[in-house]
Amino acid sequence: MKTRITEMFGIEHPIIQGGMHFVGFAEMAAAVSNAGGLGIITGLTQGTPANLAKEIARCRQMTSKPFGVNLTFLPSVTPPDYPGFIKAIIDGGVKIVETAGNNPQKWLPALKDAGIKVIHKCTSVRHSLKAESIGCDAVSVDGFECGGHPGEDDVPNFILLPRAADELKIPFVASGGMADGRSLVAALAMGAEGMNMGTRFIATKEAPVHENVKKALVAASELDTRLVMRPLRNTERVLKNAAVDRLLAKEKELGSNLKFEDIFGEVAGVYPRIMKEGEMDAGAWSCGMVAGLIYDIPTVKELVDRIMAQAEDIIQKRLAKFAA
Ligand SMILES: Cc1cc2nc3c(=O)[nH]c(=O)nc-3n(C[C@H](O)[C@H](O)[C@H](O)COP(=O)(O)O)c2cc1C
Repeated sequence: MKTRITEMFGIEHPIIQGGMHFVGFAEMAAAVSNAGGLGIITGLTQGTPANLAKEIARCRQMTSKPFGVNLTFLPSVTPPDYPGFIKAIIDGGVKIVETAGNNPQKWLPALKDAGIKVIHKCTSVRHSLKAESIGCDAVSVDGFECGGHPGEDDVPNFILLPRAADELKIPFVASGGMADGRSLVAALAMGAEGMNMGTRFIATKEAPVHENVKKALVAASELDTRLVMRPLRNTERVLKNAAVDRLLAKEKELGSNLKFEDIFGEVAGVYPRIMKEGEMDAGAWSCGMVAGLIYDIPTVKELVDRIMAQAEDIIQKRLAKFAA
């Protein structure tokens, strides 16, 4: 399938794997890229630019296809070494960067000078337009359904995607709630040129996470996510567990007096315990409502091939029938 996104990134299928903390290692990115999509290494998970450089080199040994690096810009007291991470990306010959979080404007000149394509992930039409105006090449439009940070506007993709299509000139992919060929065709129908998946890619054989995480996704339904940290305006969609229950009880009790320190135990540094050790109640971890559409743990290639076959079948058979 050819779209402006497949052309821009030199990939076979219009399917991107969004950056995921403690999931987006070289194994994940390479598996997606080898399957014809665009795999993405999560920069900040590597901790230091030197480690990111090593991870990029490792990924290059696992795939000869294009892959990208995610750079998430979060408000923080001691900001990560972003210039160092950008240097590691440029020196590593990576040609695609997925930015997310704050406005990436400050970092664009260095990336563009190195011939890197930038796809910015954001959760509203106004942020998408901003990304377009500062020179981003594409946008990943992340609806309210998404795993991770859906922003504070709560606009689901059935509204957000056509709104984005009405306003944007640069190509965009649909992100949040995407799982199968139906998602892809729907995304294309609403004006997107592909889709970005997070949660769905975690439930695959190659995803370098503990089996407990994959099993939790298969077991979860679309009713099992919760929004946490809303009082801090840092809303995150996570899978419900004991830690999330505790966190929500604190939010209820403290109301607008809630501070990050109050929930430190439930959110800080919990990812390695969950993703590596499989301690499923260790803390809050991002998960999309799309968990309800995850029934199995295929290889990444099986998943991608199945998505493309289903999408083509829907377009050629089901939709063609209605056009007659
Ligand atoms: C476990 C997990 C960790 C994530 N970590 C990040 C991250 O570090 N940076 C980022 O930009 N997005 C992150 N995301 C968001 C994904 O890249 C993607 O936008 C989102 O998962 C799309 O929604 P979906 O889960 O419904 O597919 C994360 C998502 C999950 C599920």
